[in-house]
Amino acid sequence: MQDIGHKKPSSLWLLPSLCLAATVPGQGAEVIEIATNDSAMIFVAKPGAPVVFRHWGGKIDDKRALLQKGYNENLQVLPAFGGRNHANIALSLVHADGSLTTELICAGVETSVLDDNRVETIVHLKDSLYPVFVDVRFTAYKSENVITQRAVIFHREEKPLRVESIASSYIPLRANSYYLTHFHGAWGREMRVTEEKLTPGVKTIEEYRKGVQTTMSDNPSFMLSLNHPADEDAGDVYAGALAWSGNYKLTFAIDEREILHFTGGMSPFAASRILEPGKIMETPEMVLTYSDRGRGQASRNLHDWCRRYGLAHGDQPRAVLLNSWEGAYFKFDEKTLTDMMDAAAELGLEMFVLDDGWFGNKYPRDNDKAGLGDWQANKKKVPRGIGYLADYAVAKGLRFGIWIEPEMVNAKSELAERHPEWIVKSPGRAIPESRNQWLLDLSNPAVQDFVVKTFDDVLALSPNITYIKWDANRHVLSPGSEYLPADKQTHFWKDYVDGLYKVYERVRARHRRITMQLCSSGGARLDYGALKYHDEFWTSDNTNAVDRIFIQYGTNMIYPAIATAAHVSATRNHQTGMMLPLKFRFDVAMSGRLGMELQPKDIAGEERSFAKNAIQNYKLVRSIVQFGDLYRIVSPYDEGARAALAYVSKDKKQSVFFAYTLQNSARTSTFDVRLKGLDPAKNYKVAELNPKNPSGVFPGNGNTFSGDYLMKAGISLKIHRPHESVVLHLTEK
Ligand code: DGJ
Repeated sequence: MQDIGHKKPSSLWLLPSLCLAATVPGQGAEVIEIATNDSAMIFVAKPGAPVVFRHWGGKIDDKRALLQKGYNENLQVLPAFGGRNHANIALSLVHADGSLTTELICAGVETSVLDDNRVETIVHLKDSLYPVFVDVRFTAYKSENVITQRAVIFHREEKPLRVESIASSYIPLRANSYYLTHFHGAWGREMRVTEEKLTPGVKTIEEYRKGVQTTMSDNPSFMLSLNHPADEDAGDVYAGALAWSGNYKLTFAIDEREILHFTGGMSPFAASRILEPGKIMETPEMVLTYSDRGRGQASRNLHDWCRRYGLAHGDQPRAVLLNSWEGAYFKFDEKTLTDMMDAAAELGLEMFVLDDGWFGNKYPRDNDKAGLGDWQANKKKVPRGIGYLADYAVAKGLRFGIWIEPEMVNAKSELAERHPEWIVKSPGRAIPESRNQWLLDLSNPAVQDFVVKTFDDVLALSPNITYIKWDANRHVLSPGSEYLPADKQTHFWKDYVDGLYKVYERVRARHRRITMQLCSSGGARLDYGALKYHDEFWTSDNTNAVDRIFIQYGTNMIYPAIATAAHVSATRNHQTGMMLPLKFRFDVAMSGRLGMELQPKDIAGEERSFAKNAIQNYKLVRSIVQFGDLYRIVSPYDEGARAALAYVSKDKKQSVFFAYTLQNSARTSTFDVRLKGLDPAKNYKVAELNPKNPSGVFPGNGNTFSGDYLMKAGISLKIHRPHESVVLHLTEK
């Protein structure tokens, strides 16, 4: 995991002159290049003048031409309000004397090689008049072609100043037209893909004042295609994802010169704060990538970066698990759970996760109205305690995991009785409930200590607990902190998230090996800020396989399959009320981190053998899905009501291919499709996995084809009715 801390920049302001990353002599201005293997972001600086953006895209050999372009001071590295800058502002301050103007000029540039793959570049800026200093910090991840960007502000004015807004990243782009892809949705339909042509004016994507659930309406991420709608495999695509679990704002503004200005970071509302002299304020990181091979390569860059830098244990395979929620909800006793574990072991699963409902005694957690906050095992439901259940799992050859929601409290709980001062609320007003619960004030260090202790205490219930599902089922309503002073109430938004991250840091430092799932009413908190402390996320409470094809398609544009929990459930078709075929449900879930979430005793006879076999098959292809490269082949949004995708191992020796027919039957009787991502020079044996009957739907089953043939001529699958599917495993021959 990456350190989110930073060095105090104090001594650096004494640099006598510029020390630039790359220098082109004799021009008065100099080039700063932030380069990855295949991309570069380039700025131009001269002493005492603003640092100006010049380029983001493919690498440029001859950088002198960049210096010859006009020296346009409006396209600065971090445009601050005042002077000539009035639009597309990334920083806005009210100085201690009330002045609204800030003019940032270059005060030096530092470049450090962090290791073989990472170079950090810090652009030091200072105000031309006031002792206000801003660092714009970039890290280039060479082999992943990712650049992260954030800003740090610090001042030595005599009195506090007010930060009105500070973005993580500002980038201008020039093209004839711009197409924005973003991920809109709601509970149960997260990450719907929307692509739109941007028109002159401003398009904003934001999570306004909900605070702690980033993905309730839109995810803090985007893709941008220049001059035409994004193609999967060709053309310039820029992608970004803000690593922040609070209010955010991403703005795309086309000005009168048809330049697109992207500004992204915490929403100004959440960033507004009083900054004391000598104190540092730091923005979250924006994770950026450029691809000249369409959306597909942009996703693969982000996935590679995430597995290596943005996810806990990103190099370790994920277990196939059974979660108790949809199979038992709150209604279980010890036997219900041990029966589920027996079945899980028999099916070949590797872990059992006990979800909500196991705690609370004075106020038992028998529904969502009581008990939250009282993290002691319920004596009636689990009389022999969690230790007994965890040992039972281990004796069956399973790992054991457990659910917590430590940021929240029910009104009906001992915790709410003991600590009313910890509850987020506006003074003197009723505290609105959402899912019958309130939020604990994580800006308060005492609450942070409580959450860390809760985590420790729950793990202390058994040394055999190795997985925690961390849920968070409400957002901020009627905000207010009894801990923060009256003049710092607006700090709540950022301090809550900083408090949450402090807690994550502490629990991760104490429990490095624990697997953690990020969950929030399904996928409502999905961002690279929280994800780096977790091993995976719960993608959606909607486990309907048809809906999941869309949800997983959108989610995996930005976040990788290894972290995408995808469970086979017993959810019925929304329109017909019929159960979707078990094969279809497995084939969809197997394209992510496979799990099950149902009452396993309801799967009997042939279905049981099918499930066992499918779980075995997943283990066969798990490393390709979890560590391979994703190729989207047919979008579920396209006409034809079909979808197809594949993962290809990094050495291109193996691939696993998935195809689905959706709700409406397709027009032809076969699904003809060309594969992607293979090595044209290699020969692959193609085996159908999970066939419904021995003859399967791929006539070439068991035969060998060249990668060239499979990608140019393609294959023909005998599927066309709704909810049919196929999985093919390709291995080099
Ligand atoms: C919401 C989660 O998304 C579900 O998976 C489940 O854990 C429930 N909360 C439990 O209350």
